[in-house]
Amino acid sequence: MSDTKTPPVIVLKQLKKRFGIGDAEHYALDGINLTIQKGEFIAIMGPSGCGKTTLLNVLGLLDSHIEGEYELDGKSIAYLSAKRQARIRSQQIGFVFQSFNLVSRLNVIDNVALPLIYKGMTKLARQKKASTMLRSFHLGEREFYMPNQLSGGQMQRVAIARALVNDPAIILADEPTGNLDSRASHIIMQELSDLHKQGNTIIMVTHNPDLTTYASRVITMLDGQIDTDTFRLPLQSRTSTKKPLNIVKKPKASTTKKKDKK
Ligand SMILES: Nc1ncnc2c1ncn2[C@@H]1O[C@H](COP(=O)(O)OP(=O)(O)O)[C@@H](O)[C@H]1O
Ligand SMILES: [Mg+2]
Repeated sequence: MSDTKTPPVIVLKQLKKRFGIGDAEHYALDGINLTIQKGEFIAIMGPSGCGKTTLLNVLGLLDSHIEGEYELDGKSIAYLSAKRQARIRSQQIGFVFQSFNLVSRLNVIDNVALPLIYKGMTKLARQKKASTMLRSFHLGEREFYMPNQLSGGQMQRVAIARALVNDPAIILADEPTGNLDSRASHIIMQELSDLHKQGNTIIMVTHNPDLTTYASRVITMLDGQIDTDTFRLPLQSRTSTKKPLNIVKKPKASTTKKKDKK
C-alpha cells in the first residue's frame, strides 16, 4: 500500500490565483496546499464558483499567473516561460472537457493524433498510435467518422483517447460527463476507472456525487480553498461485477437493494 517512496506527481504549496484588480480583486484560489501521488483518482466537488475550474486550469498550465508553488513530477514549473510551459502541457498533461472540444473539421483518427504533432513523429506513426488508442476504446471502426457523426458518449471517448495519446503524467477532466446522459456518463466513468487501474493519475471535477464512487480520493472546495479531503477505496475495487450501471448506485440509508431499471 505504501507509495511513499515514489515522489508525488503534484505538489501545490500556498497556491493562489487572483482575478481582477483594485476593488474587483478576488482570489479564485486562496492558499491551496495539495499533494497528489501517482495513480490517484481524485474527484473534486464544490459549489459553482468555488474555484474548481481555476484549479484544473492552473494544474494544466492553462493559467499561469499564480502565486505559490507548483511542482509537477518533482520539478517546480509555476514560473517557467510560456513556451516551456506549453511544451510541458503538450507532453505531460491530458485534458478532457465537458464540451469534448474535438476539432470538427478533422476526422476521429486525426483528432486523436493531434497532440502527437508536437512530438515530431511522422504522419504515419502518428496515425498508427492514434489507431491503437482508438481500438483500446472500442472505437476502431469509427476512425474515419467525423465528430458530428458520433454520439456524445463516443465523442467523449475520442476526447479521452486524444488526452491519453501522449502518455501524460496526469489526466485532467472538467465535468467530463456534464453533457452526457446517465448511461453514457457511467460508460465514460468506467473508462476513467480502467485508466486509473492501469496506474494513471486522474483529477476530475464533477457535480455528480454518484460519480465520486469511482474515485480514490474526494476533495471538496469552498471559496477557493480545500474544505474536505477524503481518501477511500473506489467502489470499483470493492466489487467484481462487470456491470457498471448496476454498481454505482449507493443504497440510500435504507437496507433494501434496488436494481437499475432499463
Ligand atoms: N477569467 C476570469 N476572470 C475573472 N474572474 C474569474 C475568471 N475565471 C474565474 N473567475 C472567478 O473565479 C471564481 C472561481 O471560478 P471557477 O474556477 O470557474 O469556479 P467553478 O469551476 O468551481 O464553478 C469565480 O468567482 C469566478 O467568477
Ligand atoms: Mg467550473
